[in-house]
Amino acid sequence: MLPILARSGRLVRSPLLQRGGLRYTSSAAALNDFGKHHVTNGLGRITEGVMAKGSGSYVEYLDGKKMLDFTCGIGVTNLGHCHPKVSKAAADQCMNIVHAQCSIAFSEPYLRLIEKLLPAMPHSSLDSFFFWNSGTEAVEGAIKMARILTGRQNIISMQGAYHGRTYGSMALTKSKTSYSDRQAPLMPGVFSIPFPFWHQHGLPPSAPPSVLTEQSLYQLHLLLSQQTSPKDTAAIIVEPVLGEGGYIPAPKEFLEGLRAVCDQYGILLIIDEVQSGFGRAGSWFFIEQSGVKPDILLMAKGLANGFPLSGIVSRKELTDKLAPGSMGGTYAGNPVSCAAACAVADAFREEKILDNVQARSKQLFAALDGLKDDQTLAPYILDVRGSGLMVAMEFASSEAPGAAFDPSTPKGLSVKKGMASRVAKKCIEKGMLLLTTSVYEVVRFIPPLNISEEDMKKGCDIFAESVREVVRES
Ligand SMILES: Cc1ncc(COP(=O)(O)O)c(C=O)c1O
Repeated sequence: MLPILARSGRLVRSPLLQRGGLRYTSSAAALNDFGKHHVTNGLGRITEGVMAKGSGSYVEYLDGKKMLDFTCGIGVTNLGHCHPKVSKAAADQCMNIVHAQCSIAFSEPYLRLIEKLLPAMPHSSLDSFFFWNSGTEAVEGAIKMARILTGRQNIISMQGAYHGRTYGSMALTKSKTSYSDRQAPLMPGVFSIPFPFWHQHGLPPSAPPSVLTEQSLYQLHLLLSQQTSPKDTAAIIVEPVLGEGGYIPAPKEFLEGLRAVCDQYGILLIIDEVQSGFGRAGSWFFIEQSGVKPDILLMAKGLANGFPLSGIVSRKELTDKLAPGSMGGTYAGNPVSCAAACAVADAFREEKILDNVQARSKQLFAALDGLKDDQTLAPYILDVRGSGLMVAMEFASSEAPGAAFDPSTPKGLSVKKGMASRVAKKCIEKGMLLLTTSVYEVVRFIPPLNISEEDMKKGCDIFAESVREVVRES
């Protein structure tokens, strides 16, 4: 962008390559059109325009539009946009060393980050780290580790799970077929069981966690006797709060049940906290609420508040068995990202982020439960769920997958597909970014963990107004 700024003196200009040389777009709208023309159609977007600035709970577009951000860039900017301490740590690191390649030497931020994360690990056995760039890479690394360490090939993931879009993680992803359409053959050796979510078992939303757990563990035992023998099974991978699948916290008994099966058969338990970690679901890591010990813990997103960084944590006793060179990557554990992550860990403690998560979570649940209790809206709202500030509302639909067999399908009320995206669109029109998720009609709330009471109220009001309008228009 620098030559563009130097030539035009205006931020909104961008080069448009033409046969005869460079031409420049001259407005925010033109730059947006330029993007539409030149950025792959394989990338979807929920808003028009170009995001130019972020501060705390708000983002600003080039055309001046300001939005309250209840997406955090899909659960990443947990401490708000451009947290001053985090941005400063990264800027300072840029003046020291930007690329200290991890296979050439240690970098100080990499090691300082481990010092800061060790006390936050959900189990004291988790003491050996490898940092990569993205969540999907962390998943790929975990697959490799599980296969090397057990000498077995198969991996069990959950129906509804999302683990990424690269080849190994895509094969484990079972939330939507659109992630793997026309990609076959996928990585072989992947099996799945239903996550303990009522939809996955064809049960109503009122199904108790004990029943959902029993059903899922029963399917796991069947799978291990009918499709993948424990002798061939390297790992079970689970998001302790199902993300893309609809924002469903796993019952403690289910996680304990998975641990017991893994212990019985020498299978590794991989806990994917790429989205639910770093306070998002109410504790540093959601798994700590169950007391279950992961063999491999995956993290990313909130770890560096927007700088690309992911982590694979395991036991030294296990990682000592990996041959040097079996893990690596040119940009893995970049020192600028690690310096930012050190500042995130400090701010997290100094600013008592978890206390705010508890308070704002109560406020958000109260607002959403209030809508669910409203008799004019009640028939349209199936469920309010989540943990901490990883919260969802699910709307009723007469056209959900398998609606004819699903006890949650509304009786005597026709609700067309797309209610969640209509509500999210209204919120966007009213100045708040909100995402949908899953194959069901779900909107997800992922506000900054340090959001103020006032901004949370503003977001809840915008949402309530949007739901009312969509119901009126239905
Ligand atoms: C639970 C989980 N695992 C893995 C990923 C993949 O992470 P990334 O998009 O950084 O590759 C995601 C992304 O949303 C996720 O939510």
